[in-house]
Amino acid sequence: MQIAKAAFLVAAEDHADRPGGPSKFRKVICQFSARRARLRRDRTIGALPLLRPFGVATLEESPLAKVLVLYYSSYGHIEKMAEAVAAGAREAGATVDIKRVPETIPEEVARAARVKLDQAAPIASINDLAQYDAIVIGTGTRYGRVSGQMANFLDQAGKLWLAGALVGKVGAAFTCSAAQHGGQETTLLSLITNMLHFGMTIVGLDYGFKGQMGDDEIRGGSPYGATTLAGPTGQRQPTENDLAGARYLGARVARTAALLFPDSK
Ligand SMILES: Cc1cc2nc3c(=O)[nH]c(=O)nc-3n(C[C@H](O)[C@H](O)[C@H](O)COP(=O)(O)O)c2cc1C
Repeated sequence: MQIAKAAFLVAAEDHADRPGGPSKFRKVICQFSARRARLRRDRTIGALPLLRPFGVATLEESPLAKVLVLYYSSYGHIEKMAEAVAAGAREAGATVDIKRVPETIPEEVARAARVKLDQAAPIASINDLAQYDAIVIGTGTRYGRVSGQMANFLDQAGKLWLAGALVGKVGAAFTCSAAQHGGQETTLLSLITNMLHFGMTIVGLDYGFKGQMGDDEIRGGSPYGATTLAGPTGQRQPTENDLAGARYLGARVARTAALLFPDSK
């Protein structure tokens, strides 16, 4: 039914520019603007193959949701995961910015610890948070919980919290740890707890992402969000499977935000 409705609306939209189009389509166009038809079409993401005969080629034509990928990364693992989350959200039709939070460790301490200080992503401001439909937050775990850098940034968002400026926005989390059982889930939950206090609608890494199952390799990913492992010295990099989990999460967030904010500009 949903597919038939979307196909009908797409056909209506296609006829919107044709002066000689059949009159039944003109009536439809009176009821639904071309924009509304486009939104309905894009919402029916799962039906794309069936809609191709009606001329629906790609979702990228019509970017709807605005997604911020906000991260803190000391050694680049979370930076890579952030890029994968962003790629997934873009593939699902969103416009995406990647930003990071400021480093709070004194520079000489950070240099001594070989922290990756040169990262392409611009530094986020608190007011940025209110500008997006969805915010995906990532940080490496610190003693099983959110990093001080990310906590410090979010602790400055009290004004937005008080004003309810983030209520209803879509939120999701990703993380990295050195050890396989070093606190990924508790870190994700501490990020999600923060987002729930903001009033955000949480999206997890559902089991539609099959890559989080299996014991054939060390796998990141949990129902609470996308994850990767750095290993004891940071030598391990996000695997293709870990990055696929991050892309999947980004896409889920983008699609959810597009549904919740159909008039996003
Ligand atoms: C102060 C500190 C505390 C950490 N605590 C944990 C921990 O509790 N469990 C763990 O597995 N890894 C821990 N790590 C390792 C980091 O989580 C890991 O280096 C980070 O996730 C790598 O991601 P990045 O390259 O994006 O910074 C800690 C690292 C630091 C510097």
